[in-house]
Amino acid sequence: MITNTELEYKGDLYPSKIVSFKQDVDSVYFYTENNVILKLTVLRDSLIRFRYTTKGYFSNDFSYAIDEGHSHGYNHLEITEEENYYQITTNKIICKIHKIDLRSFIYDLKGNVLLEDELGFHWEESYEFGGNIVKMSKASREGECFYGLGDKATQMNLKGKRVENFATDQYAFQKEQEPLYKVVPFYLGLHNKQAYGIFFDNTFRTFFDFCHERRNVTSFWSDGGEMNYYFFYGPKMQDVVTSYTDLTGKPELPPLWALGYHQCKWSYYPESNVKEVTAKFRELQIPCDAIYLDIDYMDGFRCFTWNKDYFPDPKRMVSELAQDGFKTIVIIDPGIKIDKEYWVYKEALEKDYFCKRADGPYMKGKVWPGECNFPDYTNPEVREWWAGLFKELISDIGVKGVWNDMNEPAVMEVPNKTFPNDVRHNYDGNPCSHRKAHNIYGTQMARATYHGVKRFAYPKRPFIITRSAYSGAQRYTSSWTGDNVASWEHLWIANIQVQRMSISGMGFTGSDIGGFAEQPSGELYARWIQLGVFHPFCRTHSSGDHGNQEPWAFDEEVIDITRKFVNLRYQLLPYLYTMFWQYIEEGTPMLKPLVYFDQEDIQTYYRNDEFIFGNQILVCPILEPNSLGRRMYIPKGEWYNYWTNCMVKGGKEMWVDSKFDEIPVFVKAGAIIPKYPVQQYVGELEFDELMLDVYYKEGKEKSVVYEDAQDGYDYKKGRFSFLSFQLTGKEKEINIQLHKDGKYDTNYSNFKINFIGLPFEIKKIEIDNEEIIFDSNLFKENQYLIVPKNFNVLHIMG
Ligand code: GLC
Repeated sequence: MITNTELEYKGDLYPSKIVSFKQDVDSVYFYTENNVILKLTVLRDSLIRFRYTTKGYFSNDFSYAIDEGHSHGYNHLEITEEENYYQITTNKIICKIHKIDLRSFIYDLKGNVLLEDELGFHWEESYEFGGNIVKMSKASREGECFYGLGDKATQMNLKGKRVENFATDQYAFQKEQEPLYKVVPFYLGLHNKQAYGIFFDNTFRTFFDFCHERRNVTSFWSDGGEMNYYFFYGPKMQDVVTSYTDLTGKPELPPLWALGYHQCKWSYYPESNVKEVTAKFRELQIPCDAIYLDIDYMDGFRCFTWNKDYFPDPKRMVSELAQDGFKTIVIIDPGIKIDKEYWVYKEALEKDYFCKRADGPYMKGKVWPGECNFPDYTNPEVREWWAGLFKELISDIGVKGVWNDMNEPAVMEVPNKTFPNDVRHNYDGNPCSHRKAHNIYGTQMARATYHGVKRFAYPKRPFIITRSAYSGAQRYTSSWTGDNVASWEHLWIANIQVQRMSISGMGFTGSDIGGFAEQPSGELYARWIQLGVFHPFCRTHSSGDHGNQEPWAFDEEVIDITRKFVNLRYQLLPYLYTMFWQYIEEGTPMLKPLVYFDQEDIQTYYRNDEFIFGNQILVCPILEPNSLGRRMYIPKGEWYNYWTNCMVKGGKEMWVDSKFDEIPVFVKAGAIIPKYPVQQYVGELEFDELMLDVYYKEGKEKSVVYEDAQDGYDYKKGRFSFLSFQLTGKEKEINIQLHKDGKYDTNYSNFKINFIGLPFEIKKIEIDNEEIIFDSNLFKENQYLIVPKNFNVLHIMG
C-alpha cells in the first residue's frame, strides 16, 4: 500500500479525508480536509458525472460538448453513510466513495466491480502554466480491453497504448502517430463481457494511458482545467455508446445526396476543368452527387470570394452543375487574409472579431493566403457574424455544402503548427487562453458554418464537413480523417479510423479515398473504393501534386471496379439512410466493429479489419496487394456470401476467396436488404418498386427501412415511412410481417422481392391470408416477385 505521504513526495498531491458531505437533489458534494471537493451527479441510473476541484469552489460549469437536449433523470437514488464509505445506489449501479481518500469504486447491483480508482484523483501543480495538471488513475484488470477515442491511427483495442489529444494538422501522418486532427476523450472499457465508458470532458491537451506505463493501471490526465468525467455503465457496449451519443448529441439527417459519392481534388479549376470532370462521370456512368472546389476557387485564398478568371460566373456554373445532378461544395478555412481592401477582413477588424494575443495585438499566422488573422469562433457574436457570411454562397450562388479545413487551427511555418498558448478566447463568456480553447476551435468554426449554411439552405438540409473536431461536433458536421497517404498501410488506418469514429459518436466520417498525399496504384485505388463505399462519408480526394485521382486516371479494370462498387452504394442508399436514421434516433453507430457487434464472443476483442455495415452486412476490406482472398473472422450466426449467395456458419476464422473486383461482403441470414435502382445521382430516377433482397433463415430476424422526402424537414413532422419487417423462416415456408409507421407515402407502389437461399420451391403465396395467383414459371425465369407495398403479411409456402 502506497501512503499519501510517499506520493506527495513525488510531486503529486492527493485528496485527504472527507470531512463533510451534502446532498443537493441529484448531486452529492464531498469535502476533504485539504479543500478538495468532489461533486458527484447522478444523471441517469447508469450515468454518473464526477467533478473535482482543489480550490475549495467550482468555477462556472460550461461545456461545448454536452448537448442541452440530453436525457436526464433516474429511477432511483439512495445515499447512505457507512463506517468507511458513502454509498450511492441507483437502479443500475452502486458507487462507494471512501472516506479516507475520496477514492471511488463502482459496482453493478450484483456486487461485481465495474471500475475502481487506483490512486484516483490527484494533481500536480504546474509551475509552467499555473494551475494544476489534473490526473485520474483507475485499476485495470486482467483481460480488460479498451476502445474508442476518435481518430487514433492504431489498433482498435487500445490496450497497451498511450494517446494524446491535441488537435493537430498532421500532414501524411503515420500509423501510431499522435496527436491527430480530432479530440474525442471518450473510451469504452470491456471486462468480463461487461462494458463501461468514460468521457473526460476537458478541452485542454489530454492524455490517456491504457496499461502502457503500468500494466494494471489506466489513467487520464490533462494540462489544465478540471477533472471532470462521466462514467457510463453498459453492460452492453451499445448502451455505453448510445448513452455517450445522447449526452454529446446527434446530428440531423443529412440530405440523401450527401450519402452519395463525392469527388474532390486540390483543386479543380478553372470552370472548364470542373465541367470536364463532372461530364466524364456521366459519360462513364459512375454515379456521383457532389463536386468540390478546393482553395483555388477563391481570389488569393480569401474566403467568401471567387477567382473571376477561373470562375467568371459561379452562379451559372453551380446551376448548370445542379441541372446535371451535381451539388457544389466549397472549402472555407478559418484564416482571414490581412488585407485592408478585403471585405471580410475589414468587417471582422471593425467589429473586433479576431483572436488576440494576451498582450493585445491580433493573433497573426501564415496559412494559404499568407499572413492571416483568425475569427474567435468561441464568441457567440462572432459565430453569428460568420453564419451570416454564407448568404451569398448559399442563397445566391446555390452552393450546397461547405468544407471547413485547417481548423485545428493550423498555422504554417511555426514549430507547434498552431496558435501560441497565450492567445485569448471568449469561450462563450468564460474567457480563457488558447490552452483551453485549442481543441474546441474547429468545432466552433464548424458550428458557426452549420448555422449559416442551414439558415440559407432552408428549407433544404445543410451539409458541412470538418477536419478538426471535439466531442459533440457531430451535432453540426460530418468529418474526414485528414491528410492521409496513398499506401496500403493507410488503407488499414482508414478502416480503423472510420470504425473508431463510429463508436465515438461521430459516425458521419470517411477517409480521402485513394490517399491524399502521393499516388495510389490502380490496385490500391480499387481496394480503397471497395472499402470507401461502405463508409458513411464517401469521397475521393487527393493533393493533386501527383496527377489525377479520378477513376479514369486508372485502367479500364479499375474504372469498372469503381463503377461496380459505387453502383452498389447507390443501390444500398435506403439501407444506408436507415443506418443514419438509427444513428440520429438511437445513437447507434453506423459501422460496428466486431467487438461491438458481439461482445459475448471474446474472439472479436482484438479484431481490426472486419466490421458490420449497419446491422446486417459484414464487410472486410482487402488490405494487401495481389490478394486472391483473405483470412477473416466471421461472427457467430449464419451469413450469406454476397457474391456467391453461399451460406457460411460463423464463429470462426476462415479463408474467403475474393477476386479483384470483390471484397468479402456477407449478409446476415434472415435479413431483408432494401435497394434502389442504380442512379447517376440521388433523385435522378423515379421508380415504382423498392427492391428487397430476402435472405432465407430458419428462425426469426427483423429488418427495418427508413425513408422520407430525402431532403427538407418534413420528416420532423412525422412525414417519414418506417417499414419494419419481421421474417420467420421455417423448413418449407417464409412468413413476412410488415408494420408501417409514419405519414410519408413513398413514390413506389410495389416491392420487388428477390429470395436468396430459399431451400424450397415456391408453390403457394398468400397476401394477408388470401392466396394470390402465382406463376411459378415466370418466377423461375425472373427470380423475383412483385407484391404491393401495403401488405401486412406475406406468406410464401413450398
Ligand atoms: C489541407 C486539407 C486538404 C486540402 C488542402 C488544400 O491539406 O487537409 O484536404 O485539399 O489543405 O486546401
